[in-house]
Amino acid sequence: MKKTLIIALSTLFIVSNCAEKKEEQKMQTYVNEPHSCAKPNEAVITHLNLDIDVDFDKKIISGTATYDIRNNNATEIVLDTKHLNIINVQADGKGAPFKLGEIDEQLGRPLTITINEGTQKISVLYKTTDKTEALQWLSAQQTADKTHPFLFTQGQAILTRTWIPIQDSPQIRVTYNATVKVPKDLMAVMSAENPKAKTADGVYNFKMQQPISAYLIALAVGDIEYKAISDRTGVYAEKSLINKAHTEFSDMEKMVVAAENLYGAYDWDQFDVIVLPPSFPFGGMENPRLTFATPTIIAGDKSLTTLIAHELAHSWSGNLVTNATWDDFWLNEGFTVYFEIRIMEALYGKERANMLALIGRQDLDDVLKTLKDSPNDTKLKLDLDGRNPDDGMNSIAYDKGYLFLRTLEETVGRKRFDVFLKAYFKEHAFSTTNTEDFVAYLNKNLLEKHNISFNTKEWIYSPGIPTNQSIIQSDAFENVENTLKAFINTNTIDAQSTNDWTPHEWVHFVRNFPETITVEQMETLDNTFNFTNSTNSYITMVWYEQAVTHNYHGQDVDAKIAEFLTTVGRRWYVTTIFKAYKKSDRVEEALEIYKKARPNYHSVTANTIDELLGYKS
Ligand code: BES
Ligand code: ZN
Repeated sequence: MKKTLIIALSTLFIVSNCAEKKEEQKMQTYVNEPHSCAKPNEAVITHLNLDIDVDFDKKIISGTATYDIRNNNATEIVLDTKHLNIINVQADGKGAPFKLGEIDEQLGRPLTITINEGTQKISVLYKTTDKTEALQWLSAQQTADKTHPFLFTQGQAILTRTWIPIQDSPQIRVTYNATVKVPKDLMAVMSAENPKAKTADGVYNFKMQQPISAYLIALAVGDIEYKAISDRTGVYAEKSLINKAHTEFSDMEKMVVAAENLYGAYDWDQFDVIVLPPSFPFGGMENPRLTFATPTIIAGDKSLTTLIAHELAHSWSGNLVTNATWDDFWLNEGFTVYFEIRIMEALYGKERANMLALIGRQDLDDVLKTLKDSPNDTKLKLDLDGRNPDDGMNSIAYDKGYLFLRTLEETVGRKRFDVFLKAYFKEHAFSTTNTEDFVAYLNKNLLEKHNISFNTKEWIYSPGIPTNQSIIQSDAFENVENTLKAFINTNTIDAQSTNDWTPHEWVHFVRNFPETITVEQMETLDNTFNFTNSTNSYITMVWYEQAVTHNYHGQDVDAKIAEFLTTVGRRWYVTTIFKAYKKSDRVEEALEIYKKARPNYHSVTANTIDELLGYKS
């Protein structure tokens, strides 16, 4: 009897909560933002029904995007599109006039549809084109198994509009359903409720019942399998990788539990990871319910799975509480790095967490050097008006964001900070925040509440790093630095003393070679530790950077670098190595490799390297 009452009461509570949320959404006013042409205060999409066909022969997706809209008596609704072929548009089931605006190289073309004040449904029949930047169509040769082609999408930051006509601003959220038809021997998965096996007819139905921003709508199609880790976590991968991936990511359930213990229940039911082919341009992408990941994190020893903790953390910071505009990107990434490192601390201890934090600290110092002539780009709150939001994707949002939160935590005390963050996620769930709202929330709920003064504005709105920054310390890294110094001075190294080093200690060792290191010293190190052939992609990446910088050519390293750059498309990795070529005046060699590598790259990586090397296609 009592039990029934409690259930009845809690159902009532949920219902009233939902109603409140709906009401809130109705009231939401959207800020003007430079990276979308939508006018959501007039008419805004609330639900997408996608019905598409994936044609691997023609390399085209075609079909219909139907939207429920919330209409504020508008007579027009504007969607973002880029390089899409718009065939036909309907409003309330009848043909509707539409026009495509001027082409903007970054933003694409606004699609303006004439509607009635009472219109609540629109639909667009469309096709993608060969310029569609979100999609990468891979041949069988570019996959792990080499038997079937593969397709994946990358929506962040403003690429979803290149495969679906949509209001592509992070402050606009939609729920979605999708019907996706693919060749019978392939499986389709999305950032939604997913199949665990192939269907007989190649038709897949998806449902995403929680409202998400357009950049989080994602699709992958390939000859993949599923293997569960727990009843709510698991991996998708090609056959030859599925067991390796399953072993590598076996701590995933523990990560979800640790995350929930920190900042509240996981709101997306399922947390799976799909291992994509190596051309995937990122380490990971936090598509809800299904993180997309590079295979380069499969190291055999779980050492690079912090990336999984990072993408999982986005289930709170980013997917649940979303940056309102790309100028507020640090709210997504800075919070996520902080959360990621807290998850790693919970699972593997403080020493590992501090090593990760120090690696980020060094990345931050590096980016501060490269941005010394554009100090405005070292502020947390960015101004990306007229620029590609990708320009904001550097260590400032991630590692300055992290350092700010860590400093804040140390100032107010971890206990209070955790209470604050948990409430922040809960109160902003399924909505968006911008920097100004966050500062107001922080002042009210943490600083003023406990009568603490903190230089928040300086951290967020000034360039560089304030002097009250937290000092991160790691005994393990100090030991690494001492070992390196001793080697540089004596040319000898006691390999025995490095036996228990973790990959991150090796990364720290290699990254910190002094400028004066000689080719002979590099050779000694390579002969002793075989860096050129390391199976850990992070170690090889930093080693190749050093080999290029210091003109080291031993152990066939040049061939290995060329092979790495032509198979891996992870932007951070390949950019680091190509930058080293550029800095060492070896652009000709870089271009030679790049010509072969470029066809394997997704557009976001190719765009970055084109610009870096001055390559014209
Ligand atoms: N959301 C980002 C990837 C991203 C950012 C794509 C901006 C497009 C535009 C993802 O969560 C991320 O940060 N990935 C990192 C992981 C790393 C920091 C652990 C990556 O890919 O390297
Ligand atoms: Zn991230």
